[in-house]
Amino acid sequence: MYVCICQSVTERQVREAARQGLRTVKALKERLGVASECARCARCAHEILRECHGCTEAVQSTAECVN
Ligand code: FES
Repeated sequence: MYVCICQSVTERQVREAARQGLRTVKALKERLGVASECARCARCAHEILRECHGCTEAVQSTAECVN
């Protein structure tokens, strides 16, 4: 699923970035471009980061994101 349509960033990419230690949407923006245009993805990206905070493996998605 795409989290950020403007930059073609997928949920998997966001989860991988979280796994690598990214904790904020700002950090995602710098790494992947998330929320760098319309920013409608910021809330969804934030929810995924929160869900993954501290995780070491991919977690089944529970975030509901509407883009
Ligand atoms: S959907 Fe992410 S910047 Fe537009």
